[in-house]
Amino acid sequence: MLKDTRIVLGVTGGIAVYKAVELLRLLTKAGACVHVIMTRAAQEFVTPLTFQTLSSHPVHSELFNLIAEQEIGHISLADRANLFVIAPATANVIGKIANGIADDLLTTTAMATKAPVLIAPAMNVNMYTNPIYRENEEKLRRLGYLFVPPEKGALACGWEGEGKLAAPETIFEAIAAALRPRDLAGQTVMVTAGPTREEIDPVRFISNHSSGRMGYAIAGAARQRGARVILVSGPTGLAVPAGVERVCVESARDMQAAVMRHVKECSVVIKAAAVADYRPAERKGDKIKKQAAEMTLTLVKNPDILAELGHLKKHPFLVGFAAETSCLEEYAARKLAEKKLDMIVANDVSSCDAGFNVDTNRALLLFKDGSRQDCPLMSKDELANRILDEVVSRLPARRNH
Ligand code: CTP
Repeated sequence: MLKDTRIVLGVTGGIAVYKAVELLRLLTKAGACVHVIMTRAAQEFVTPLTFQTLSSHPVHSELFNLIAEQEIGHISLADRANLFVIAPATANVIGKIANGIADDLLTTTAMATKAPVLIAPAMNVNMYTNPIYRENEEKLRRLGYLFVPPEKGALACGWEGEGKLAAPETIFEAIAAALRPRDLAGQTVMVTAGPTREEIDPVRFISNHSSGRMGYAIAGAARQRGARVILVSGPTGLAVPAGVERVCVESARDMQAAVMRHVKECSVVIKAAAVADYRPAERKGDKIKKQAAEMTLTLVKNPDILAELGHLKKHPFLVGFAAETSCLEEYAARKLAEKKLDMIVANDVSSCDAGFNVDTNRALLLFKDGSRQDCPLMSKDELANRILDEVVSRLPARRNH
């Protein structure tokens, strides 16, 4: 995932240094080449040997180490990095960087690098809320430095509050996001997600098992890749991904109205929502009381939003989903053709590690030109990026039409 990526990991002094060891392990496991710079204080907590062993490179710590400078000097470290990560970052190091102080190897390299810098602060809660610290962080954010905010919790100093270094997995995700190409900049992408709810009466509705996770993962990933993202979402318990504009809807007809209202702004529409195909013919104003042993509910067909988009005279790049429990490829290919899509993501929702309500998915991608691609079991975030890779690679070709 991070193959051929060069990362400089700056480690400053604090009890959270042990978490940087775990972060380094995650990075090297993902294929990144990591050079570690430790401040003197960091070495009081964990020895350089630990970082050296896990990174397979000598740890850098002295600004004027003649041997190290000859082999790979601080300027060369700064130049070669695709990303400079500082984790944990103390209030002291953040203050120095914000004010142009470069008095050790870490701060000198931070000043010399042209790579994006991602900072994961860790400190006492009172330091974190100190106006001087806040001003330094704000200044760096304004200048484009990236931050992974600390978590709330019991701090090593005995206080409770914000200041705990973010979990290594969270920092790893932020690193992966920072390294992602911004290849959707300038595009507006609409994503639909989640189930729809078709009301029977004031207390009951027809719906399905969709959690919305796949659609939310696509929306978040598209945003990270630079797109403006409109997320038309049925009811889910999920948080809106950062920077995404969410439009909340309930029924298929609400979703249809929202999609049609925004489609003209979009260059890409990805319909991951599990839209209910039918709704009750009539929604009762009062709660239906139980009476006979059997009852019949008459359902009428909902509009097929995706087919409507496909049949527009001029439509954006259209990606549909096909949730199937049998004959996956045959049914998905039929939907691709009938709804006039550019691409379809076919899921077998009968398996327990893919489809509804799980964090992983496997899919078959089919394209208008007849080509196909298998995506083995992976996280929904990874699959989201695979889908977007395909969208990106096919977008310019369409513009030439
Ligand atoms: N879709 C839609 N509007 C509908 C039904 C589906 O926009 N009323 C979209 C879904 O968002 C998805 C694609 O069409 O991208 C396929 O949805 P799916 O439920 O797999 O298929 P259907 O077309 O509903 O056909 P069937 O239920 O017969 O499999």
